[in-house]
Amino acid sequence: MSSTDPRVAQAVAALRRGGLVVLPTETVYGLAADATDSHAVARIYAVKGRPADHPLILHVASADHVAPWVTAVPPYARQLMRGAWPGPLTVVLPRSPRVGDHVTGGQDTVAIRVPDHPLALEVLAEFGGAVAAPSANRFGHVSPTDADHVRTDLGPRLAPGMDVVLDGGPCQVGVESTIVDCTGAAPVILRPGRFSESDIARLSGVAVAPRVDESPTPRVSGSLTAHYAPRAEVVVAATTASAAVGDGLIALADAPTPEGVVRLMAPTDADDFARRLYWALREADALDLTRVVAVPPPGNEGIAPAIRDRLIRSAAGSGRRQ
Ligand code: TXA
Ligand code: MG
Repeated sequence: MSSTDPRVAQAVAALRRGGLVVLPTETVYGLAADATDSHAVARIYAVKGRPADHPLILHVASADHVAPWVTAVPPYARQLMRGAWPGPLTVVLPRSPRVGDHVTGGQDTVAIRVPDHPLALEVLAEFGGAVAAPSANRFGHVSPTDADHVRTDLGPRLAPGMDVVLDGGPCQVGVESTIVDCTGAAPVILRPGRFSESDIARLSGVAVAPRVDESPTPRVSGSLTAHYAPRAEVVVAATTASAAVGDGLIALADAPTPEGVVRLMAPTDADDFARRLYWALREADALDLTRVVAVPPPGNEGIAPAIRDRLIRSAAGSGRRQ
């Protein structure tokens, strides 16, 4: 059935002519191209300023659309996809010959997910194939959780009449999907996200195996130590005791704001924290703050480990003020 939203047809037409589509998802905005069009995918790398050996995630309309792109799917991976999609989960599986090197950076695996956003799902269903899409930010910068973030970061690099920006409102999860390597006997978490380790074990029916990093080159660019970085310096703290050393504060609502410090957000719980985090990091730069103290929520459940992961990487890459 065709969508009644004219933006869906415009986005599908853009994908078919080799253009880029800024795609809203529940995690962060993606910069999408037809996965089989190597020229269009090359433009993603150019627009982002991303090294070409960093692999992209395929986005499809449902678990039924996965088969052409992968070879072996272990039963636990099938169960995981069935339980988590549409949703903030990416699975890594052995790739089929249909997936080009331009998507995987030459690796023999492919990352694939079904995003939980009505507009994205309509575009993917109508397009029918797979789109390759990284987060729609300049390489190394904070991921966009609002269409305006994308316009600010990439707007001048997009081609009018060729590319399309779909505004789907603010992203509901706010940090990138959990990436799970499903090429072995048990799931391995490559990047934490909204689905925690216990969620992955429960949904797949198999205990999560520890990550063994055999390769010196990063398979997940978001796992580079310097990533998700604003211009302001980010300091990660366990409590607000040291908040006064900064001029900005990111912490749960119950933490007090010291005199003279800009409160960037006051989320009520970890999900709310994640939803607003990238917005707050961008706001720190908009206000020209120099040092932001961030106190992430504690614990290993839910999205808390993903928030700590992003803040630690953000801190590692931050403070490169121009
Ligand atoms: O939530 C998300 O996953 C968002 C939205 C747009 O879907 N996408 C996203 O894409 O975060 P990106 O490109 O910024 O990060 C995807 C990560 C990269 O770090 C990449 O290295 C990793 O996925 N990746 C892609 N293919 C892989 C593979 N075959 N094996 C391991 N990691 C892979
Ligand atoms: Mg990214």
